Amino acid sequence: MAISKNSAAAIRADLKSAGYARVNSLFATGRSRKLMVARRAFIRSIHDLPIDTHSLIGNRYRRYGVFDLNSQNNKLTIQPPVWNAARGDWVTRYRQDAQYNSEYEGKVRSFSSLTEGQRTNQFITWLILKCVRCLPWSKIPKSIVVGVHIIQLCARYGTPAASTPDFLHRDGEPWTWAFLLERVAVEGGQNTIAVPSAINMHPRDVSDDRIVDQFTLRKRFEGWVVNDQRVSHYVSPVSVAGGRSIGWRTVLLIEYSKA
Ligand SMILES: [Fe+2]
Repeated sequence: MAISKNSAAAIRADLKSAGYARVNSLFATGRSRKLMVARRAFIRSIHDLPIDTHSLIGNRYRRYGVFDLNSQNNKLTIQPPVWNAARGDWVTRYRQDAQYNSEYEGKVRSFSSLTEGQRTNQFITWLILKCVRCLPWSKIPKSIVVGVHIIQLCARYGTPAASTPDFLHRDGEPWTWAFLLERVAVEGGQNTIAVPSAINMHPRDVSDDRIVDQFTLRKRFEGWVVNDQRVSHYVSPVSVAGGRSIGWRTVLLIEYSKA
C-alpha cells in the first residue's frame, strides 16, 4: 500500500478497506511553534529510557502510561502510576492476554511510567487527539482508554535486539498506532502486515498471499495504524549496522480501546 495522504479521511478509508494505513513523517508535524517546541522536548526525553526489566537479553528500554480520554470534551487524564518499592520506581502495569503474547503467558508486566514531562507534553496530547480522530469509529465511545508506550531496541555488535512477541501477532487493543522516533546505526526493523490467521508465525514461514505489506520506517514520525481485528503485525529484530558497535530503534505506540 502507498502511504496515505495523511488526511483523516484517507486514513479512515485505508483502515476500512485494508485494515491498516500508513502515514508519512508530516502527519505528526504541528502547525504552531509551541507544538514543535513541545515535540523537540519530547524527543529529548526519549534518550534516557529505563531498562524493560522483562527484556530477556536486557537490551530493550521503555516507558508506558495509560490515559482516560473523554471524547466529548477531549480531556485526557493520566491513570496514576504505582510505586514499586523493590524497583524504587513508579510503574504502570500492562497485561496482554496469553492469546496475544504467549511470550509472557498473560502475566502482568510493570513498566516504568511516563515521566511527568512526557505525560503533560503538549505535543503528545495533540498527537493522541489527532490519531483518535482518524479512526473509523461507527460511533466514537465517550470513554476511551489510551495506552502510550515508548520502546527502544538497543543492539550491540553481535547481539541483535528483538521486539516482543518476536512473531506475527495481534495486540488485543482494537487500534494501535506506531511512529518511528529514532533509527540510529541499525539494520532490520522491517514491519510486516499479514492476515489475522498468520498469528504466532514468523513471516518467513507465511506464504506470500497471506502477507499484506512489508516496509521499513526510516524517517522520524513515519508510522502505521492497524485495526487489530483485521490484520496481524510484526517487526523484525534490529542489528548493528556495519562498522558500528551500538545502534538503536525507538518507537512510540499509541493504543486505543473502548473503556
Ligand atoms: Fe504489536
